[in-house]
Amino acid sequence: MPRITYIESNGTRHEAEAELGSTVMETAVMNGIPGIIAECGGSCTCATCHVYVDDAWTEVVGGPSMMEEDMLDFAWQPKPNSRLSCQIKVKDTIDGLVVHVPSRQA
Ligand code: FES
Repeated sequence: MPRITYIESNGTRHEAEAELGSTVMETAVMNGIPGIIAECGGSCTCATCHVYVDDAWTEVVGGPSMMEEDMLDFAWQPKPNSRLSCQIKVKDTIDGLVVHVPSRQA
């Protein structure tokens, strides 16, 4: 199973095993990662699952879809490496992924 590391804004790291076919958001919620709220349950309509993809992973993960990009406008302090974690599918290629959780959600 791919492993994902979530780093809180205070530097606390959490590692979680992710199921293939799930999402980075679902993995966070299932593992009680602080700071990932996911109010809409993954339908790309709330922006409370916002994460910053670690610089080493932005190319592998890729950029947001147009719909996701529109929602990111509502995220707390979006940056070029912002993604909605419900829109990042867990695949073998993201084994070792590191994402940073913002200090707050929108
Ligand atoms: S969970 Fe609502 S946009 Fe991701």
